[in-house]
Amino acid sequence: MGALRVLVTGGAGFIGSNLVDRLLAEGIQVDVADNLVAGSLSNLASARSQKNAKFSFHKLDVCDVALEEYVNKRRPDVIMHLAAQIDVRNSKVDPYYDATVNLLGSIRVLEAARKAGVAKVVYAASGGALYGDVAPVPTAEDAPRRPISPYGISKGTVLDYLSLYRDLYDIEYTALAMSNVYGPRQDPNGESAVISIFGSAMLKDDDVYIYGDGSQTRDFVFVDDTVDAFIKSIELGGGLVINVGTTQETTVLDLFWEMSRQIGYSKSPIFRPSRSGEILRSALDIQRARDHLGWEPWTQLSEGLKPTIEWMKLQ
Ligand SMILES: NC(=O)c1ccc[n+]([C@@H]2O[C@H](COP(=O)([O-])OP(=O)(O)OC[C@H]3O[C@@H](n4cnc5c(N)ncnc54)[C@H](O)[C@@H]3O)[C@@H](O)[C@H]2O)c1
Repeated sequence: MGALRVLVTGGAGFIGSNLVDRLLAEGIQVDVADNLVAGSLSNLASARSQKNAKFSFHKLDVCDVALEEYVNKRRPDVIMHLAAQIDVRNSKVDPYYDATVNLLGSIRVLEAARKAGVAKVVYAASGGALYGDVAPVPTAEDAPRRPISPYGISKGTVLDYLSLYRDLYDIEYTALAMSNVYGPRQDPNGESAVISIFGSAMLKDDDVYIYGDGSQTRDFVFVDDTVDAFIKSIELGGGLVINVGTTQETTVLDLFWEMSRQIGYSKSPIFRPSRSGEILRSALDIQRARDHLGWEPWTQLSEGLKPTIEWMKLQ
């Protein structure tokens, strides 16, 4: 893969920066475009210390027309598009901003790809937000789309554009519909990642709040495993939406007890009324990833939590 050039939008963020490290380890030339609204240069510390100029960073908003010029200059073979407004609750407070970044920003990326003759776009889609609450669990990709937030709509609509650009302009795509990704560099102050929220509260010995009775489930997939699906998508999975998860449902309460055990947190959780619009059960079927990417996750939650908690301790 050495001669390849990959552009990562949102590469200063949680998943993006872990992806950048893996791409560089594969010997791939990496360019990052990120406006740093949520990500940080510290996430790219090891990438930026590369001595062989295999890496470049550009502070750039994906909504900006300058992205087209930038892509035209860098001429990547593949764009991995991860830049997004990722907060589901924020998408309800400000759906206009959500659609601007997640939908219009993605159209900008596709237009840039079309004008520069980019061969493939690998898109960071959201499995949890795409299928809503009515699909059977674990949910396969052919389940009807039932987004229950502006975020689910904006992220889901991009899938139609990807398919259209493939038909009209021959730009290949793979859309990775990820479940709940966790691991080092996930924003501990974020509003939406339960593992980060629990971990940062437990490490300060603060109270931990659970909304509802804690029986709601999530499919937690470790970031290293997730990033591996992106790498496989460089050559495989063309024209497909592919779930990236574990098929395993973990209740929020079980997560609480496992993290308490690993951190040595001794308080009980405080239960609060459940929040409207929250998905009750979520886990993704990953047969398509096995069949088309030769991918499956290998990190158990209890194992993946260890480096995640170690990283949180250093923050
Ligand atoms: N974390 C998860 O569990 C999860 C699950 C499913 C899908 N996703 C998707 O994966 C992608 C990465 O998510 P993450 O968890 O790493 O989030 P993150 O917030 O850490 O990363 C997003 C990055 O995009 C950048 N960004 C935001 N708006 C931008 C803009 N207008 N122009 C340029 N850069 C911009 C941010 O600065 C940040 O570095 C997102 O597209 C998200 O929707 C994440």
